Amino acid sequence: MSAAGPLRWGLLSTARINDAILAGAAATPAARVTAVASRDRSRAESYARAHDLERAHGSYEALLADPDVDAVYVSLPNGLHVPWAVRGLEAGKHVLCEKPLSADPAEVATAFDAAERAGRVLMEGFMYRHHPQTARMVELVRDGAVGVVSVIRASFGFRLDDPTDVRLSPELAGGALMDVGCYCVSAARLLTAAEPVQVYAVARLSDRGVDVRLSGTLRFEDGVVAQIDCFFDQAIRRSLEVFGTEGTLTAHDPWGGGRLELRRHGATEDIPAPVVDAYALELENLAAAARGDAPPLLGRDDAVGQARTIAALYRSAASGQAVDVT
Ligand SMILES: NC(=O)c1ccc[n+]([C@@H]2O[C@H](COP(=O)([O-])OP(=O)(O)OC[C@H]3O[C@@H](n4cnc5c(N)ncnc54)[C@H](OP(=O)(O)O)[C@@H]3O)[C@@H](O)[C@H]2O)c1
Repeated sequence: MSAAGPLRWGLLSTARINDAILAGAAATPAARVTAVASRDRSRAESYARAHDLERAHGSYEALLADPDVDAVYVSLPNGLHVPWAVRGLEAGKHVLCEKPLSADPAEVATAFDAAERAGRVLMEGFMYRHHPQTARMVELVRDGAVGVVSVIRASFGFRLDDPTDVRLSPELAGGALMDVGCYCVSAARLLTAAEPVQVYAVARLSDRGVDVRLSGTLRFEDGVVAQIDCFFDQAIRRSLEVFGTEGTLTAHDPWGGGRLELRRHGATEDIPAPVVDAYALELENLAAAARGDAPPLLGRDDAVGQARTIAALYRSAASGQAVDVT
């Protein structure tokens, strides 16, 4: 990458989510997607043709060996995130890894160790964090718009009827908490600016043992409670609410960007979200971090905290008991 030029990206897989990154890259001069890899060479080639990419690789290893790739986007199923993020870093690439990095905090730490050893940037791909609406929500809560916060309610779920979807695979670390509940966990931690101390969760499992629905309660040291709901077996729902002594703040599409609604002292204020491409902003942040011009918005502490909470929620669901977040 030249000082002013775009970061040259390679896509590690032909996943559906790549469409969002391709659109984001098209919306910013900071990124250019140049290559794709697939386990299947012909799939990589037809993907490259369809998306006008310069190079197609018939293996993930070949993409990592491509000297004209500065950064890789790991869009693999969850269970492959850390192994391939680490391999990407060891190959000298910056890595944007789709969420969630892992439900194992020790594994997340090994990935950031690899980033530090390589002197490269690793970022967990929570694109909603890059949306200015999210920053606005944090600012409103921090500045007391709803008074003293007591409860946060976050939900993300949809009906997933395709039994072959990787989200339903126990081998590939599927599950509603991993796929969508991780956003709710992220938002609760962000809005409290703290880590939960104790959690309790109830899950409904598929025949293969994957959570297709999970409801969890996160208790924070100062008494704030976050209620999260995530699922693959109910109609679509995406919401985030913060209750406080003076009012309520609601995000109507917290994960994609919609309007905020602040209800306070009997009045309702609508706060429209700016129209932006959060994936483009994510790519811009990673490019700035790669140049050393800005810190990555999401780093080690955030990703380890995410994994700790997710692991604790799964322990609680398995045991039927409230568990400490350790
Ligand atoms: N940030 C967001 O908004 C967002 C949205 C959706 C998904 N995601 C995340 O992005 C990741 C991918 O999700 P997706 O729905 O786009 O996945 P997907 O379409 O099912 O694609 C996953 C890709 O992984 C590769 N792969 C490697 N080993 C595989 C295996 N054993 N089984 C199946 N595929 C395998 C395949 O590519 P090749 O065959 O070409 O190698 C496949 O195309 C997930 O971690 C998900 O959580 C994020």
